[in-house]
Amino acid sequence: MAVVPYKDQNNDKKSQVAQMFDNIAGKYDFLNHFLSAGIDIVWRKKAVSLLVKEKPKLMLDIATGTADFAIEALSLQPEKIVGVDISEGMLAVGRQKLQRKGLTDKIELKYGDSENLPFEDNTFDAITVAFGVRNFENLKQGLAEMNRVLKPGGTAVVLEFSKPQRFPMKQLYQFYFKNILPVVGRFVSKDRAAYTYLPESVQAFPDGQEFLKIFEEVGFKNTKWHSLTFGISSIYIGKK
Ligand SMILES: C[S@@+](CC[C@H](N)C(=O)[O-])C[C@H]1O[C@@H](n2cnc3c(N)ncnc32)[C@H](O)[C@@H]1O
Repeated sequence: MAVVPYKDQNNDKKSQVAQMFDNIAGKYDFLNHFLSAGIDIVWRKKAVSLLVKEKPKLMLDIATGTADFAIEALSLQPEKIVGVDISEGMLAVGRQKLQRKGLTDKIELKYGDSENLPFEDNTFDAITVAFGVRNFENLKQGLAEMNRVLKPGGTAVVLEFSKPQRFPMKQLYQFYFKNILPVVGRFVSKDRAAYTYLPESVQAFPDGQEFLKIFEEVGFKNTKWHSLTFGISSIYIGKK
């Protein structure tokens, strides 16, 4: 059974996830940085740094949301970054941000589903996804699509929450994720489910070695896994 945000609704995970991110879009950036004490910014920087040697020209940021990862990736000086997402609410916040920062000529945001990407085969030099793959309805299909639109020799970088395995971080993290984060998240976002869905979806997500196995099954090679901050997050990297 897929973990979904609104368990009393019958619609599929994809439409529930889009609905949830539409609901919280206005508070998303604040909650992200507040609930992670800003570590999410450090994690995105680290993920982007793994692409420095590749010097990508055309990049795709999947599940781009409010475009934070795409903006971070501009440090690589690509010619262009395209960001796709299924939440029009998140894209709208992202577009305002790009406008404010004068970045609309460098980053283009458009509606796009990771499991059916609106691009030709072998299009992008590098592809990034931050905190997105856990929300896919069909993880393997989403990763296979990523591989399809990546150029041969191109690199994909995936940043996602993972589950710390060791005492005492495992216990501290579980306490925080189950007891503090949902209460603060609900209070600020006013969405009844989003910050309960977050720990539940992390719990259900195949992290670490399990993720690498699926990543390789869809065709990625030279795969590597970097554990960040006691295993709270992980970066997965692979080549086509
Ligand atoms: C936690 S946010 C991450 C946003 C951004 N990447 C960041 O680092 O802040 C997850 C995003 O994934 C998007 N998403 C979920 N499923 C998707 C799918 N199948 N295709 C494209 N985007 C998807 C959601 O709409 C949401 O904006």
